[in-house]
Amino acid sequence: MTLTTEAVNNLNHYPELAAKQISWQHRFHHEALKDKAILVTGAGDGIGSATAKTYASFGADVILLGRTRSKLEAVFDWIESHTKTSPVIVPCDLENLDSATVENLADSIDENFGHLEGIVHNASRLGPKVPIVHYPEDEWQRVMQTNVNAVFMLNKGLFELLDKSEHACVIHTSSSVGREARAYWGAYAASKFALEGLSQLFADETENAGNIHVYSVNPGGTRTAMRREAYPLEDPATLPTPEDHMELYLALMCSKDQVSGDVLAFTTGQQLDARNWLKGSN
Ligand SMILES: NC(=O)c1ccc[n+]([C@@H]2O[C@H](COP(=O)([O-])OP(=O)(O)OC[C@H]3O[C@@H](n4cnc5c(N)ncnc54)[C@H](OP(=O)(O)O)[C@@H]3O)[C@@H](O)[C@H]2O)c1
Repeated sequence: MTLTTEAVNNLNHYPELAAKQISWQHRFHHEALKDKAILVTGAGDGIGSATAKTYASFGADVILLGRTRSKLEAVFDWIESHTKTSPVIVPCDLENLDSATVENLADSIDENFGHLEGIVHNASRLGPKVPIVHYPEDEWQRVMQTNVNAVFMLNKGLFELLDKSEHACVIHTSSSVGREARAYWGAYAASKFALEGLSQLFADETENAGNIHVYSVNPGGTRTAMRREAYPLEDPATLPTPEDHMELYLALMCSKDQVSGDVLAFTTGQQLDARNWLKGSN
């Protein structure tokens, strides 16, 4: 597809993203995600906040789920003032997520939008970096609850809404240590391995119907609060920003007819690496 100049988003309202768009391999229609409702977890900060702002900039109505209300409100206000979309805030600590809360969320998405085209599972708890034999059991439970159990519950509880869509996409945000474990990464590494498994299961079980596309994305080291917590001595300026990854997050979420450039050939269940994408390979 060739997009006309006016169909390409100028992104003047989002200079950090506009600066990256210059080197994108693909161009996306400025309303590529119009009329799509997309849930982003951990939407108040880091990669989640950038994803929510990016999707809204391309027309999506984003459902901003996160733990800290003030951070969600800041993203909500930005979206309200810079886009014509209708964001919604869902303050929710995923550590306390239960099936009644997921049911309420599904009902309220149904009432508000009547459809759901995407979930970006991005919220995550790092937990301590200590040897496994010293790993605190309560922390193990908290990390597993946030990074895996909540993802399972959301996928299960929101499946009917996703399945009604002609084209839906679920992105599981993983990590390098969820593909190859490294010492001292504890429950975080184990949770990301479980997340990869969940992603593959969900992809395999939905592949035949063909309307839900499921991926795992490893962002790799990225300039966020979580990275600072994991590597306090690292110079953040040496890392890609969340906006560096937004071409990939857009390419996965958009249907192909909204994108121009090289042919996008993603396969459901695929494990992607955002840093490789930046280098032009995957
Ligand atoms: N940054 C990296 O280098 C890197 C590398 C590999 C993978 N990742 C993955 O990328 C994703 C995004 O991380 P990030 O780097 O953008 O981190 P971040 O800036 O710290 O953002 C994480 C978000 O998750 C939210 N969150 C954490 N626990 C939650 C809970 N119990 N309930 C609801 N929300 C919760 C946080 O909310 P609050 O702001 O309220 O705390 C925050 O908005 C994560 O899945 C992470 O594992 C990051």
